[in-house]
Amino acid sequence: MPPLALFLHVFTSENPQSTSRRCLISVSGMTIAPSLLAADFKYLARETRRVDRSGADWLHLDIMDGHFVQNISFGPAVVKTLRPLTKLFFDVHLMCSKPEILLEPFARAGANQMNIHVELGERVSPLIWQIRSLGKKVGLAINPPTAIGLVQPFLDRIDSLLIMTVNPGFGGQSFIYETLPKIQQAAAWRNERNLRYAIGVDGGVDFQTAAECSRAGADTFISGTALFGQRSFRGAVRKLRKLTESAHPAALLPDSEPVAGEVA
Ligand code: DX5
Ligand code: ZN
Repeated sequence: MPPLALFLHVFTSENPQSTSRRCLISVSGMTIAPSLLAADFKYLARETRRVDRSGADWLHLDIMDGHFVQNISFGPAVVKTLRPLTKLFFDVHLMCSKPEILLEPFARAGANQMNIHVELGERVSPLIWQIRSLGKKVGLAINPPTAIGLVQPFLDRIDSLLIMTVNPGFGGQSFIYETLPKIQQAAAWRNERNLRYAIGVDGGVDFQTAAECSRAGADTFISGTALFGQRSFRGAVRKLRKLTESAHPAALLPDSEPVAGEVA
């Protein structure tokens, strides 16, 4: 969810250690997006319903073509089969060398947003245009080794920036900490240019790394293994939401700083 949609609940309470009032702020507006790649593929329908009931915001659908990445996952037919089972926002992540031929099939299958990779170079602009002309939201993904500067020309044309925190291709990998400065940079550009794109993180996002990403400025959390591995999916989503809300910079205003709505 874009930063302007962050919803600040401001409470004040007497701080016995100080004469000033302390602001206790909780930030809603985090987007929790379980990645179906970590589901039990024998029961995709059941797993989709499980996500649907969990309180999550999006369902992240990883499309791998065996060329852009080594792995192959599933295609539009599977997405179309799952579409009637939930009203969740379908976030399609195309790890594919030729998204041009897949955008229309995934749009028809029920995608709400389609993410293409900035590594596709000069094809990024026409792809963004193609996604828009299909009436879908635009996501732009960037791999860990790619310089963040490459996304800069597109920031005013996208709904979501997807910062890969693992090298794409497989679920269950370890989070790459060197990607954290990219999140900070993306958040700084968003502020400076008064833009509204969501900042997503994808890969190795668990309860610990999600908090670090949120602290760096992320607001959208794609998580597969960490969520599907929990006995209570709903509890895990709630926990992820809570800890990302409290780690986000918007929740960390200093004691003394006046906040709209604060009682003097
Ligand atoms: C990685 C995919 C991710 C993956 C995340 O190539 O793009 O969406 O499903 O899975 P975890 O959370 O298991 O790293
Ligand atoms: Zn993904």
